[in-house]
Amino acid sequence: MNHINEISAFPEGWYFVANRASILRENLIEKTWMGQEIIAWSDGEGHICVAEAYCPHLGSHLGPTVGGRVRDGCLVCPFHGFEFDRTGQCVATPNAPAPKAARLSVYRTREILGMVFAWWGVGGRAPQWDLPDDPPAGAEWSRLRSTKLRFRGHPQETTENSVDVEHLGYTHGYHDVAPTGTISIEGAYLRSCFDFTNVNRFAGLFNITSEVSAVTHVHGLGYSFVEIQEKTIGLDARLWVLPTPVDGTFVNLVLVSQLREIRKPGRFFAGLGFLPVRLRHRLINCFFLRQEKRYVMQDVTIWERKRYQPRPRLCRGDGPIGKYRRYCRQFYPKLQPEKPGTAEIESTRP
Ligand code: FES
Ligand SMILES: [Fe+2]
Repeated sequence: MNHINEISAFPEGWYFVANRASILRENLIEKTWMGQEIIAWSDGEGHICVAEAYCPHLGSHLGPTVGGRVRDGCLVCPFHGFEFDRTGQCVATPNAPAPKAARLSVYRTREILGMVFAWWGVGGRAPQWDLPDDPPAGAEWSRLRSTKLRFRGHPQETTENSVDVEHLGYTHGYHDVAPTGTISIEGAYLRSCFDFTNVNRFAGLFNITSEVSAVTHVHGLGYSFVEIQEKTIGLDARLWVLPTPVDGTFVNLVLVSQLREIRKPGRFFAGLGFLPVRLRHRLINCFFLRQEKRYVMQDVTIWERKRYQPRPRLCRGDGPIGKYRRYCRQFYPKLQPEKPGTAEIESTRP
């Protein structure tokens, strides 16, 4: 296997596109992923559509910056006014019957707590696995909060973090990092767990020494979900780490956090007791996400300048990097082109 190609190609999987709320607010959004232009809109009946951004008629870009818009749930091309429904089918033109063959390529979508994901398959193939259901919700869970980063990187490298135990102490300054059990792999699902101790400064006021247990659920390289249990003050948090390749060089990484009401507020809230619970909750989620972003920025410094080592010279203290790399191979299937010279697969590989 050519590992250099492996890391430079796009791994197939489910990737974050946008939040439902922002698609509804803007009606139509455009973005670049996997080196391709895509658009997303809502059909007005609750379905989110993600499609290629070029019109099958004469090739206009369909994004809002060019004049694409949504009317009665259909996407309207800015060039000659062809209309497309949520399946991508052209259903009307201004002066002639809609040509049956005019159809936009649409991507399969899945939604988790309002986060919209779309499947990108090698050679355009259908989803090979599904994303998990929504995690249990309840009034005790805060609203989601998210932040975005864009840097030179690759989702295989960013996800490798969750099994790279050594860097947790060395790069991030965690203490007593200890894997709890071995990583488990089942198809596209990988689970890893570890405990650590960490010192955080809250709002510049006081330090909290936290004992933390983290369980990471990886469902392909575009979707990692981390369940975090902080034992000192009884804080349960959820963190989604969602890297989407922009092109062969840059990645958009969205971090999303959600917090459960603190079980043992005690001294921690001594100075915040005057705040209503919901506001306290929001404040702590904001603080939590800021801390997580700070840790990720430490990784970004490394990621942006690192080189992929196909044969890393590992030491005994490393996590199960080899196992993780073998898990990743399934995301770069080598499909046979249907006819010699049809290079749809090659075209995705820089
Ligand atoms: S290019 Fe879209 S309607 Fe003509
Ligand atoms: Fe890290």
